Amino acid sequence: MEVIIQPSHHQLAVIASEIIRDALLKKLNLVLGLATGSTPIGLYKALVRMHKEDGLDFSRVTTFNLDEYVNIPREHPQSYHTFMAKHFFDHVNISVENQHIPQNTAENHETFCARYEEAIERVGGIDIQVLGIGTDGHIGFNEVGSSLASRTRIVTLTESTLVANAIHFGGDVSTVPEMAITMGIGTIMKVKQCLLLACGTSKSEAIAKAIEGPITVMMPASALQMHPNTVVLIDEAAASNLKEVEYYKRSYANKLKLESQ
Ligand code: GLP
Repeated sequence: MEVIIQPSHHQLAVIASEIIRDALLKKLNLVLGLATGSTPIGLYKALVRMHKEDGLDFSRVTTFNLDEYVNIPREHPQSYHTFMAKHFFDHVNISVENQHIPQNTAENHETFCARYEEAIERVGGIDIQVLGIGTDGHIGFNEVGSSLASRTRIVTLTESTLVANAIHFGGDVSTVPEMAITMGIGTIMKVKQCLLLACGTSKSEAIAKAIEGPITVMMPASALQMHPNTVVLIDEAAASNLKEVEYYKRSYANKLKLESQ
């Protein structure tokens, strides 16, 4: 794992957007895996700016979102369909037929999930997957106990995730959908590159365990230790429980030096 620690959320968003821009300039039909949550909003803003001001072209890009709540109308203000339209899709030129988000119902979910995996395979797999992390270490909606080989499926959310996400539902835990469809950890492990973003002290424990702790189903993000190309982009607050902060900073400084030679 490459760990990049920056003073602020803004710098993380800039670095992540530059990684995606550079990949897109090399491969016009880039396949992006996308995440929701407050953490990637700055990244989407930066990509929208690159599209509007620098003409970055998304017309051949295909996207697959990690997850969606079940039993929430698509047009609900907190559905991930609404989130993606508001923060990204409405502002760039990704064609609607190339935008994929898990369905928002439990109807025929097994068939849907198998087809979602097939659709990812059909376009040659995901090139870059954007990830956030839950305070309990979940990625997508792969909660504690998720098999590290899991694929896209329907899951029940843990109490801690329901409580964490209640803020988006007016603070009332009982109104947060209890189930979701999520790509599995096995699905995420197959992507070519992961960009895991995290900010703030509330994520510092999960980040320390995910990067420096044992690989375990009790910390789903720890599976990324076995991924060949994961970049972890975190601010100082999210890095505050890591043991090897100085080493990560020195490694990144050396990488920049090498690149500028
Ligand atoms: C939700 C999403 C995750 C996201 C997490 C953290 O649970 N399913 O994909 O990483 O929230 O969100 P935030 O970035 O708002 O802290």
